[in-house]
Amino acid sequence: MAIDFKQRIASVKDFPNEGITFRDITPILQDGELYRAATHELAEYAKSRNADVIVGPEARGFIVGCPVATELGVGFVPARKPHKLPREVERASYDLEYGSNVLEMHKDAIKPGQRVVICDDLMATAGTLHATKELVERLGGEVVGAAFYIELTNLKGRSMFPDTDIFSLVKYD
Ligand code: HPA
Repeated sequence: MAIDFKQRIASVKDFPNEGITFRDITPILQDGELYRAATHELAEYAKSRNADVIVGPEARGFIVGCPVATELGVGFVPARKPHKLPREVERASYDLEYGSNVLEMHKDAIKPGQRVVICDDLMATAGTLHATKELVERLGGEVVGAAFYIELTNLKGRSMFPDTDIFSLVKYD
């Protein structure tokens, strides 16, 4: 039987701001079998896209993307908050469901032509995906897919990327 990931996501009303229902993936991470199963689903997806490398935005993209990369035996590249990476970087900014932020990647993190799958816990307005994709493309990589545990469909992030293949384990509207 298919695993019911949704049943193991905690929904927290009015966090971090009033009117937001926060979808919390930590119950999945706490359960080794479930974390491995979620990782495996994303890894199978990334394999189907022939990914050469996984890119994950700070911070939950590390939690989701790193085990996918190790399962596939491909590299992992972090997209980090500003001033964390020590060498020359590309920088892009993005707006979120609440707030905005900036991401950076090392300029030599992606080899031209590499096939990239971006992994993160959740797609809301897709601001993070937008900035991460822009960075990968500026470095010469090709974003061949994006994979999430959760997609908030009413925020219509998917429609911002008609040409990007997007995979999610669980959807909320
Ligand atoms: N959960 C986790 N992260 C988020 C959410 C959410 O519901 N919305 C925007 N980022």
